[in-house]
This record gives sequence, structure tokens and C-alpha cells, in this order.
Amino acid sequence: MTDFNTAQLPQINTDVLIIGSGIAGLTAALEASREGRVLIVSKDKLSENNTMHAQGGIAVVLAHDDSFDSHINDTLDAGQGLCEPTVVEEVVKEGPKRIKTLIGLGTCFDREDGQLAFTVEGGHSYPRIIHGKGDSTGMVVEEALLNFIKTCSNISTLEHYFAVDLLTTDGHCCGAIVWHRHKGKMVIWAKETLLATGGCGHVYRETTNSDVATGDGVAMAYRAGATLRDLEFVQFHPTTLYIAGAARSLATEALRGEGALLINKEGKRFMPDYHPMAELAPRDVVSRSIVREMQSTEYTHVYLDARHIPKKRLKMRFPKIWSICASFHIDISKETIPVRPSAHYMIGGVKVDKKGRTDVACLYACGETASTGLHGANRLGSNSLLECLVYGHRVGMTIADALRRNRNETKTYPLKVMVKARRQRGLNLGDIRYALKSLMWRDVGLERNEQHLKEASEEIGHWSEYIMDKEFHSPYGWELQNMLFLSRLITDSALERKETRGVHYRSDFPDRNDKDWKRHITVRRVTS
Ligand code: FUM
Repeated sequence: MTDFNTAQLPQINTDVLIIGSGIAGLTAALEASREGRVLIVSKDKLSENNTMHAQGGIAVVLAHDDSFDSHINDTLDAGQGLCEPTVVEEVVKEGPKRIKTLIGLGTCFDREDGQLAFTVEGGHSYPRIIHGKGDSTGMVVEEALLNFIKTCSNISTLEHYFAVDLLTTDGHCCGAIVWHRHKGKMVIWAKETLLATGGCGHVYRETTNSDVATGDGVAMAYRAGATLRDLEFVQFHPTTLYIAGAARSLATEALRGEGALLINKEGKRFMPDYHPMAELAPRDVVSRSIVREMQSTEYTHVYLDARHIPKKRLKMRFPKIWSICASFHIDISKETIPVRPSAHYMIGGVKVDKKGRTDVACLYACGETASTGLHGANRLGSNSLLECLVYGHRVGMTIADALRRNRNETKTYPLKVMVKARRQRGLNLGDIRYALKSLMWRDVGLERNEQHLKEASEEIGHWSEYIMDKEFHSPYGWELQNMLFLSRLITDSALERKETRGVHYRSDFPDRNDKDWKRHITVRRVTS
């Protein structure tokens, strides 16, 4: 929330405003810029986002003996009855085309004997994951796209500009208020606005996500009146590196794809006791099995054992994990890797149609911010970058189409918001932020039940009462407001879904219940 009067603020006009600079936003920018000026705004440096941290790869049917049907069925199986089948089919079938475009733009995926190299991840019945620089796939793609975008005269960028809120009038979105630490608030007017701000891993204490992932886009969309969907489905990655003093980072599922095993504190391999696919079972199963082992051994983590993989191959396939572990004096060819689950991916988000349109006119969403229906109740590893490419391209084309139909100047409006309550002195935002993250981890995490969810909802409601109506002057406060919004919506959706499905595990309703719950939960702000 922020005070503003557009008449008194510096103004920027563009045809298209894209908030967020990961693979989805950049892909959309390339398409949209064919018909108009695109401005990409990023709250950190352009290259700081969840794409940059993506390790494993991109799932795509490109191997000659793989098939679309196999990838479609794997995705539907993982999604446990909540995927939109036509979305799954279209995304899988469009994948090869989008990868060829990426390669054409200069992305170098890893190859063996000149051919694309594939690996396998949990829930995939075929090795169809392509990767770059071993375990730095996201970085390879992001850098190629950013380099290409620099050559596009119709695309400009603003780094370190925080999008505070969307501007809406007469039922449509017309841009956003942004803030820069030296320049203050500013208005960006746009004919079309795209949210590509990634996920919200940082509402949890433990996460693989970039620091920027505080759910800003989803919270802004909610305030603007867009429908959100499937927020209870938060995916926890089973294997996050757990070293005291190290930032939590992913230990990619591809490690297990290449043969690494999960062992407990006693050195016992446990996954075959839980699922026939063992280490390559779907993520929700592996994460919960790890938690069980942590509980039964009364220990803070389990281990990934990659010692049997030849050292040369380990170093070549996983240079990033190799070097992070080495910096903590762990030689992964000789020692096991300490890991445990953490929040990884927001499956739900802003509901969009097949063109990437939200239900607010002129407002679009793509990537992790959006809920397209691809993932259902559980996302298959490496399907997210694929979705970013396909829906980034689609939404870019939809926006280009809208620009072709509207060649007028970008409109400006006299808009004014006054926030009555001022910030209280002595309010410790850091304290609330960490209390929220701990609460979400404890009560709205991998295992949920009614009592904990109700307590969490009440506590968040209590904090919200004295945070939400305040005027802040820095991203730290605005982020906290967004995190509170989203945490409350995640918690209440989790409370509402009285069953277990995919990544949503209710210990008080441990079974899937198709009769009552084979449906989505949507939320929309009630506007007066
Ligand atoms: O394990 C991984 O590398 C994660 C991949 C993904 O979330 O898609």
C-alpha cells in the first residue's frame, strides 16, 4: 500500500510493461516487442530471479524414442486429477519448437557426441531433461535471453525498480507505481501489463528460491481484482543443501537422476521402503519420506550419497553443487551431501486463460506467477521452465495482437490513493518477517492439519491488522505486506481443502477425495 497522486509523480509511457525478468518475462518481451515498446522492470538486477537459480533443466520431447504421449501422461499422473488436459497437451507438443528457438538465440545446452544430452528426474518415465553447464540450466538460458534482449531496440530495462502496485481504472490495468531508492515513486503507464515476478518461496523459512521471491506479482494481481487459483499447492523440493552458514540452495533432482541415493543418519538407504520408484518417486513422496526419516532418526537432515558416481562425471555434470560443497570442505566424491526439503515452487498463482490473460482487462501473467493448469496438484520436475517458454511466447503474442488493434498513444489518468494510517514507530518489520516465515514453515508446510492451519491463519490475521493499512517507504515493508497477503491466502486455501492431494498433505484427511475435491479453489478480492 502506498500513497500516490499520479499528477504529482514523474511519468514514463510505454506500450507494454513487464514486471519481472526471468525466462517467462523475457520470452514474452521478445514477442511483444515486434509490435511496440516494451519496458522490463526488475526489483533487483535483471539477472536475479528464480530462473537464474534453476539447476536441473527443461523437460522436452526431443529424443527420437521419447513420445509426446509419455510426457503428457507423466504430467497428468503427477498432477493427480487437477491438470487441465488440453493445456498439458499443448505445452508438451509446443516444447520442441520453443527449445529450437532458444538454441537459435544462442543458448548452449549440454551435448554428448554432438547430440543434446538428456537426463531423468522424478516422475518422468523417460530421460527427457535437457540441461546447460551441467547444473546451471537456468543461468545458461537467462544469460542467452538477456544478451539477445540487449540487441532489441524496442526493449528497454529498469533494474532496481520495485513495483509497488498496479494501477487500475474503469476495470482495466493501465500500468504500475514503481519505486527507486534514489528517485522515489514514479508512474509507468502502459497499454498492456504483464506480471512475471516468479513465486513466493520466501514466505517460508526454508526455501531454494532467490531472495526476490516474495510473491509480489500475485499479491498485486489480487489487489487489482484478478482471480487466484490453487494457492494451497506449494511444492517442497526434497533435497535442499543443508549446511549451517550456507544459504539454502538446491541439490538438483538430476543428482538422483544420475544415480545418487538418499540415506539416513544411520547410513541406511530408505526410499525403496516408501515407493517403487525409490529416489525417483514424485517430489511430494520423496519430501515426506525424508521428513519421516528425520523424525525417526531424530535428526535435522538426511544425506544424498553420490560417492559411487565417478568423480570426473560428478564434476562435469554438477559443477555448481561441487563448488558450493567444496567451499564448505565437502568433497562430494568422498562425502555425503546433507539435505532436507524446503519450499521450492508455487504451483498456484494468478489464473490465466490459454492466452495468458487474467480476468482484469489489459493484465496478463506468466511463469511461476501464473496458474495455467499445467501442473495440477503436483508439478513434475523441469516442467516449469518449459511452461515459462510456451506461455511466455503465447502471452507475448497475445500482447502483440492487442497492440496491433490499438495504435493510439498510451493513456494517462488522474489517479490518487491516500493511505490513512502512518507507520507506527518501533515496528520491527524484520521480526514479523521472520516470525511469519517460521510460522508458515511449521504450520503450513509439508504436513498440515486443521488446528495448525487455523492457528496460523489467526496469527497472520493479527499481524496483518497492524501492517496492512500502513504506509511504507521501502520494499522491505511492501514485501512484508505482500508476504502476509499471500500467506493468509495459502493458509486459508489449505484449510479449505479437506483432503490430501499432490503436494497438499493433510494429516487429518490423509486420503484423496475425488468426490468432493476434484476441483480448484479460487480466491478473488471482494471489491466494494
Ligand atoms: O531439482 C531440480 O533441479 C529442480 C528442477 C525443477 O524444479 O524443475
